[in-house]
Amino acid sequence: MKKIIVAIDGHSSCGKSTMAKSLAKSIGYTYVDTGAMYRAVTLFAIRNGMFGTDGSIDTDSLSSRMNEITVSFRNDACGRQETLLNGEVVENEIRGMEVSGKVSPIATLGFVREAMVCQQRRMGQEKGIVMDGRDIGTVVYPDAELKIFVTASDEVRAQRRFDELQAKGDSSTFEEILKNVRERDYIDSHREISPLRQADDAIVLDNSNMTIAEQDAWLMARYNETVNS
Ligand code: DC
Repeated sequence: MKKIIVAIDGHSSCGKSTMAKSLAKSIGYTYVDTGAMYRAVTLFAIRNGMFGTDGSIDTDSLSSRMNEITVSFRNDACGRQETLLNGEVVENEIRGMEVSGKVSPIATLGFVREAMVCQQRRMGQEKGIVMDGRDIGTVVYPDAELKIFVTASDEVRAQRRFDELQAKGDSSTFEEILKNVRERDYIDSHREISPLRQADDAIVLDNSNMTIAEQDAWLMARYNETVNS
């Protein structure tokens, strides 16, 4: 069967990665979480003191050290994907509120995006990839055979993220998370370079009222239509 590129874009915390992972597993494709890549760069910047107390970023320092940053992925013993920053597993740290609160400004930087997009294109050279993010169908793979744009209401997305963080023992409140979801939406959609937007040929999915099983089935149906067309 022909291999394709599946591009899944959309708002933060709307379940893109859950559906992308599930499809990749079912069809034997590689899953790439591009948000994790921007999060790993953010962690690098935090660890190296590149954020001022006012939230400003030392962009000169970060841009001069971009070549020291390698983001990769591997599966843990249970088959769950983990993100590595220069060979160190940073999966938990990149999902916490500190990184979540600082990642959007990092993702607005042109030199960061350039480096990440370059790595992302390299990962999809052989096709057979499911990639999720904000600019996959518009910038990284404008020729992707299947493009999905996912969205859900702010409250539903904040609740999902709240449940996820609670399960990990994070004490952030629902209100803090809702604020973070809204702030990230705003920055992601209003930035100058590669803003979050729906590709003209993307299929829209609002999954506010869908179960995970329903959204998986919906995506599998779109995949089957595409490879059989
Ligand atoms: O999907 P996520 O919440 O893990 O993404 C983290 C941040 O990275 C979010 O603010 C949007 C940004 N991002 C991006 O600009 N481009 C991508 N392809 C993926 C994520």
